[in-house]
Amino acid sequence: MSVLITGGTGFVGHYLIERLEKPVVTSRNRQRALNKLGDSVADVIEWAPKSEALNLDPAMDCRAVVNLMGDSIAEGRWTAAKKKSIRDSRVLGTKKLVEAVSKLDRKPDVFVSASAVGYYGDPGDVVVTESHQMGEGYLPEVCKQWEDASDEIAALGVRVVKLRIGIVLGSDGGALEKMVPLFKWGLGGKLGSGRQWFPWIHVEDLAGMIDWAIQTPSASGVYNATAPNPVTNGQFTAALAKSVGRWAILPAPKFGLRIALGEFANSLFFSQRVIPQRALEQGYQFQFPDLDAALDDAI
Ligand SMILES: NC(=O)c1ccc[n+]([C@@H]2O[C@H](COP(=O)([O-])OP(=O)(O)OC[C@H]3O[C@@H](n4cnc5c(N)ncnc54)[C@H](OP(=O)(O)O)[C@@H]3O)[C@@H](O)[C@H]2O)c1
Repeated sequence: MSVLITGGTGFVGHYLIERLEKPVVTSRNRQRALNKLGDSVADVIEWAPKSEALNLDPAMDCRAVVNLMGDSIAEGRWTAAKKKSIRDSRVLGTKKLVEAVSKLDRKPDVFVSASAVGYYGDPGDVVVTESHQMGEGYLPEVCKQWEDASDEIAALGVRVVKLRIGIVLGSDGGALEKMVPLFKWGLGGKLGSGRQWFPWIHVEDLAGMIDWAIQTPSASGVYNATAPNPVTNGQFTAALAKSVGRWAILPAPKFGLRIALGEFANSLFFSQRVIPQRALEQGYQFQFPDLDAALDDAI
């Protein structure tokens, strides 16, 4: 099946591309993307979503679109300019993507877009399924606008799948790339009380879920892309320390992280007990439902 991926040069894209047969990828820098992806892709289309429209050949054969692009929320302080870039790269970027795909002679069968569990804000200890209400504040608003932007293509009869992704665990990227070195030096620790829920997913399960969403005609709408067994931050910290063979005794206080990381630090303390109810009901089989096995594989 011919697939077009935005953000395919990123952490998740790497694992997804391995499962697909030579997709076409968009990137802000074609040459850099080609150097990275080599012949695992059919082609790279250079596109700077912030400043230009996406021009696709109307005759392009594209059965599925996977939308993974977005300025990293974890890199750099959340200045006004950074917050605008986080939002625009997702919301305006998705709108432009939808506009381009809408002009294809043959519309794709399915449009799969990333969203995030940030949609739910900070719901505390309650179990969060896909029907849970939206949270309040910057991240929930960005996620809502991001999801709404991809809905526009549903009007053309394209099946739309939106994945509210949790914290993705895997090697060579994502949260573990930053955390493992700290833990190896004995500097890891739970965040605050550690009682807040931590909605994780192994990157192979996320890539698998995207592939499943492409292949499954009955998959449609919002899905929580998280492991079926969420843990608290304290449990995650203990499991990660065990996995790297170190103690994790230094709790990181919220005020310290807030000084070091700025506004982004607040989101690290959100408690999100998210479960992938719809994917489980529709038969998606998780490769890594439990954290210990996921960490052992990823590290
Ligand atoms: N990783 C996680 O834990 C996690 C959790 C929840 C949701 N998500 C979402 O899942 C998607 C994929 O995650 P990921 O970890 O693979 O992301 P990533 O590694 O940060 O890569 C995303 C890609 O987006 C493109 N990009 C970066 N900044 C951009 C900007 N300012 N404007 C337009 N494009 C930009 C880059 O491609 P080029 O440089 O080639 O243009 C990059 O390779 C993202 O939308 C992310 O928000 C991820």
